[in-house]
Amino acid sequence: MAFPLFSSQAAGIRERCQSDPATKLRLRYAPYYHAMEAQQGTNVRLNGRDMIMLASNDYLGLSFHPKVIEAARGALLTWGTSATGARVSNGSRAYHLDLEAKLAAFLGKEACHIHAAGYLSCLSGVAAFAQKGDIILADKNIHSCLWDGIRLSTATVERFSHNNPDDLRAVAASLPPGTPKMTVVEGVYSMEGHIVRLPEIAAVAAEFNSFTVLDDAHGFGVLGRQGRGTADHFGLTDQIDIICGSLSKSLASTGGFVAGSRALIEYLRTHGKHTLFSASLSPAQTAAAAAALDILQTEPEHLERLWSNTRRYTAMLKSLGLDTWDTETPAVPIVLGSKERAYAFWQALMEKGVFTVMSITPAVPPGKDLIRTAISAGHTDEQLERIADAMAYAKKRS
Ligand SMILES: Cc1ncc(COP(=O)(O)O)c(C=O)c1O
Repeated sequence: MAFPLFSSQAAGIRERCQSDPATKLRLRYAPYYHAMEAQQGTNVRLNGRDMIMLASNDYLGLSFHPKVIEAARGALLTWGTSATGARVSNGSRAYHLDLEAKLAAFLGKEACHIHAAGYLSCLSGVAAFAQKGDIILADKNIHSCLWDGIRLSTATVERFSHNNPDDLRAVAASLPPGTPKMTVVEGVYSMEGHIVRLPEIAAVAAEFNSFTVLDDAHGFGVLGRQGRGTADHFGLTDQIDIICGSLSKSLASTGGFVAGSRALIEYLRTHGKHTLFSASLSPAQTAAAAAALDILQTEPEHLERLWSNTRRYTAMLKSLGLDTWDTETPAVPIVLGSKERAYAFWQALMEKGVFTVMSITPAVPPGKDLIRTAISAGHTDEQLERIADAMAYAKKRS
């Protein structure tokens, strides 16, 4: 989306793009789009320097797991590089059905559909089910893919304050009772690391007969039994209509999923434009996700290590007096409050060989400019010590 402050209505599209101040600012300070020259787990090389990756979503550290790599290689040799088509026509394969069945069983839902990106899955999890005349109740901090899904649905949207069931109830109570409603939340808020207050939110949704969509991109693999996700963590899987998420985080692949009752998933396959008209997930990525899903159920040590690393890391940040926005999960923001401080902090970490990502307004609420970090089961004790030293240095420099 263009920076509204700087948009010029009069300029033509080429001129507007060429003179865009936000793009110029990004290119000048270059905090984004870094391309690593090499990677091995949580070690990356950037501009010839070895660095610790502290910003990826490889929560369980499975992207270099030998079984995941072997599964992807096997699928590539058996099935080639791509099915080169949409599922509805020529792009459906046995490996897709296999992963969908495994995911549905793991999540405790009847059926599942996978897409080539988590963004597509989560967008479709809203857009395929809501329509004009419906009202969508959305947590104001939901991810961009859910906002896109809301916009494409053409339903009316009402925001409620972040993770606040009382506000959700107040907004829902002010709406016409007979109108179909949908409540849209995340399991773990990607920027803040907050866990959704699902028991209270699901109770309000039930009170107002609202269809409920849970984007669990950051809760899947992290919360719940063996990493079954946020709904499982609260024992509320049956009260959520749609659980959607990404394969590019704990499952160390790319792609996404939408899970629900068989009737809902068949409806998605009939009406979801992103399901109907986009090519299917590649064989290698599907096999990688399926292998990672097996590992979640057979090697509990990765989830245990993730949480012990998370506890150690967040305790260290707190001991330095850094503001972690009350995160409860391995998604850990460090709130600096202004873009200048965030930039100085980010640069100091880079200097010390720790790679993180800066997130500034309008991507976060005003005053919440932050460094977004994520801990992984793959971080070693030695790396955690180096990260602690770097954080202490960055705090002094910002
Ligand atoms: C909450 C949330 N939903 C959906 C997505 C999209 O997933 P993907 O990056 O796999 O397309 C993301 C990605 O960061 C996310 O944070």
